[in-house]
Amino acid sequence: MNQWLDERLHISRLNDKFLRKAFPVHHSFFLGEITLFALIVLIITGILLALSYEPSAQLVKHPFDPGAAQVPAAYASALKINAMPFGDMLRRIHHWMANMMMGAAILHLMRIYFTGAFKKPREINWWIGMLLLIFTALTAVTGYSLPYDNFAFTTLKVIVGIVGSIPWIGEWASQAAFAGKFPGEGLIPRVYGYHIMLLPGILLALTAAHMLIMIKQKHTQPQYAKRVAYKKIVGVPLSTQQTPIMIMLALLFTGLVILFAAFIPVHPVEVIGPPSNQSPIVKPDFYLLWVFGILAILPGNLEFHFLGGVFNAEFLGGIVMPTMILLLMFAVPMFDKSKENLYYAENPTNHPVRLAAGIAFFTLMIVWSVAGYKPELVNSRILTNDNANGILWGLAIVLPIVMYFVTIGIVRGIRKLREADERETHAAAADD
Ligand code: HEM
Repeated sequence: MNQWLDERLHISRLNDKFLRKAFPVHHSFFLGEITLFALIVLIITGILLALSYEPSAQLVKHPFDPGAAQVPAAYASALKINAMPFGDMLRRIHHWMANMMMGAAILHLMRIYFTGAFKKPREINWWIGMLLLIFTALTAVTGYSLPYDNFAFTTLKVIVGIVGSIPWIGEWASQAAFAGKFPGEGLIPRVYGYHIMLLPGILLALTAAHMLIMIKQKHTQPQYAKRVAYKKIVGVPLSTQQTPIMIMLALLFTGLVILFAAFIPVHPVEVIGPPSNQSPIVKPDFYLLWVFGILAILPGNLEFHFLGGVFNAEFLGGIVMPTMILLLMFAVPMFDKSKENLYYAENPTNHPVRLAAGIAFFTLMIVWSVAGYKPELVNSRILTNDNANGILWGLAIVLPIVMYFVTIGIVRGIRKLREADERETHAAAADD
């Protein structure tokens, strides 16, 4: 069989080129793989959901309550999917998996950042990775909107408002992106097109480029590889050793997500109800909370005019500040001036400024994400309607600075202990 295939497809060349690649065995390298498994499960569960989902906002009879008012067809189809055997589980697995993919991608990014794996020659894969992160978030948000319940409706209203706030071209851009004035007939079919065709297509193309570059450039080697065989690639080949490890990891991870889905509902459309004029307090999924946080604590009346364009809080908080944060993340490899190619993953504590800057950055993200809960927090004794913005902005500035210096202090302490340890070892060796 092998020979038959080889004569026709030259399989053995493929085997030499890709399947014998050595993969480092280190737990931190599993994060990228988990992100990939999540993408695969999302595509499979998404295809199954698409078989029964109806992308239309046209009003139809409530499928289970003849006395109730009419509801959008998309919402009715989500209710019907819930009532199918395993239907609710399918929706939950799909939604949980989207959260897991974002979580795994963020942890994977942290691993790359803190070990310096973005350095020469892997800058291009850092940039492709950043695009993957952004397009994963966009795919997840468009999916969140599809059940067209009151949460989805309100989230769409917020997003359309943010796009519409772009000076000069906002109204045009929002109508072009969301098929006319909100909420038009074309809205749901348009968002559906983004969610099941355009965005997954982009994600798959970017993932393919990410993997091919990674195979070409090879992984950074974990530190232990230095001791095992200096400047040699240490790892197990994809065929056959790495493949069973990956299959086990994929099954374990998928099993865990199914367990989550079985016990913790996510986006229960029947509880939320169909779109209504009363906007509920919507919380986006965790990876977008920081943007909601910025919007929540920017004064709503912030506004200035320039050359006939209006620059308001929605535009500054929903577009300008997130774009600046993303550009800063894109620029990370440019702060490094290494001439040599990076071979070994670096120990984060050997690069205190990079480590401290990263921790300060994630602290800022966490504070902004907490600020996304402002409506709930202002009822506490410390935060009131009058002081909430001031306190949350104060924390967003002070906490990252504190975390920066605390990290530098801890790393210096670790370095001193290490040096003292080395001195003792040398002294003991000299005594012997
Ligand atoms: C969201 C979808 C993503 C998927 C499916 C994905 C998948 C992977 C996989 C499977 C690997 C090899 C295993 C590993 O090193 O962990 C890898 C490596 C890599 N990824 Fe990603 N990744 C994604 C996002 C990102 C992001 C957000 C970044 C950074 C901005 C990034 C930057 C890199 C780099 C630089 C490498 C090479 C690492 C090395 O050689 O040590 N990736 N990715």
